[in-house]
Amino acid sequence: MNTRVLTGITTTGTPHLGNYAGAIRPAVQASTQPGVDAFFFLADYHALIKCDDPARVARSRLEIAATWLAVGLDHERVTFYRQSDILEIPELSWLLTCVTAKGMMNRAHAYKASVDQNVAKGVDPDDGITMGLFSYPVLMAADILMFNANRVPVGRDQIQHLEMARDIAQRFNHLYGRDYFTLPEVAIEEDVATLPGLDGRKMSKSYNNTIPLFEGGAKALRASVMRIVTDSRAPGEAKDAENSHLYTLYRAFATPAESALFRKQLEDGMGWGDAKQALYEHLENQLAPMREKYVDLIANPGRIEDILQAGADKARKQALPLMQELRVAVGLRNLNAGAVAGKQGKKDKDKGARFVSFRDETGGFRFRLLAADGEELLLSQRFADPKQAGALMRRLQEEPAADVLQASGEGYAAVIDGVTVAEAPAAAQGDADARLTRTREALASLAKE
Ligand code: TRP
Repeated sequence: MNTRVLTGITTTGTPHLGNYAGAIRPAVQASTQPGVDAFFFLADYHALIKCDDPARVARSRLEIAATWLAVGLDHERVTFYRQSDILEIPELSWLLTCVTAKGMMNRAHAYKASVDQNVAKGVDPDDGITMGLFSYPVLMAADILMFNANRVPVGRDQIQHLEMARDIAQRFNHLYGRDYFTLPEVAIEEDVATLPGLDGRKMSKSYNNTIPLFEGGAKALRASVMRIVTDSRAPGEAKDAENSHLYTLYRAFATPAESALFRKQLEDGMGWGDAKQALYEHLENQLAPMREKYVDLIANPGRIEDILQAGADKARKQALPLMQELRVAVGLRNLNAGAVAGKQGKKDKDKGARFVSFRDETGGFRFRLLAADGEELLLSQRFADPKQAGALMRRLQEEPAADVLQASGEGYAAVIDGVTVAEAPAAAQGDADARLTRTREALASLAKE
């Protein structure tokens, strides 16, 4: 079994060099490893928690999607999608909300930090705090559990959220009696580069010390590099490479041999101006080809949209069947399916024959007829409209079974108004006549109810 690696990127900003080296590059790299199924998504519902500027959210989605594609993400291989295209995610988020302890949410760092700030300011503890912020970890758990991710690479600030996702998953599994969810493991990449920003502190939008990745082109890149702080050693003086931000930045984009050479040049007295020019040229060499793709993608948003839509289709194929199971698990069942048993406690043999409706991997509506012992007797065609599927299911119960069921080829089929509505499942084995009889009995037993 492949390992499912999943991570989300909140769409509130424009990716900078630190995001690239610290998160994007290692994620894209990891997605090419054998045995890995990668799920990368734009956490645009999460963006709404932090940002109420629609233009900024919209722009950021475009820029982040373009960045990931431009740096070489293979969107055919990985599942690359927008959170907001998968409506099962907010749906799951609600099911999880209903099993999540409020007390646990009270302890979430991000929420607590906001409360602490309010208390320090002497205002109401919950001043300005939305339910979005409070419930942030539940939505994040839904992102992860929806796809049964095994590994979730995130920054250290997200470790607690992963613990909460595990806790919520366990609670749900326990309450509903089965391992619906895989427990995700947090993956902290120890050896990825944390880049210093212009002022030497960690590069971060909140410190306003970032070097742009693509925005502003070569000119903006050079201008930023020239603003990196250095010490005051003059040209000709030996530099302390190990403690210079310039060298740390260089190393994150260079081979060991290139880094060693740069280091030697600094120790031999290269001036900071020349060193900055060398760093800029080195970065520009690597970034220019990717930037070209980025600019091209930004100019063709329709292409990105198509890729994301295809990604959403792929993601939904995973999400739908699980969501369907979860709905049944919690009791949100089709009334027609007869499946009114309680939690797992009630045994199959207590149930009679029954219809079970579900959505298949393409999102189409279907139903099955199951015998009392769970044997699958009929599998319906795929319907685009759930009402049509439901109506035909009822017709199958109401019409005399003898009129509806017909032997066909190796098996049998249920035919209504001359149209084949359902057939013996393809995988069925054994005596078709006996199964046809069982199917007839099953339909007859449902008609009596
Ligand atoms: N909270 C994450 C961050 O700010 C983004 C995110 C949302 C995420 N959903 C996720 C990360 C699911 C990993 C898995 O970095």
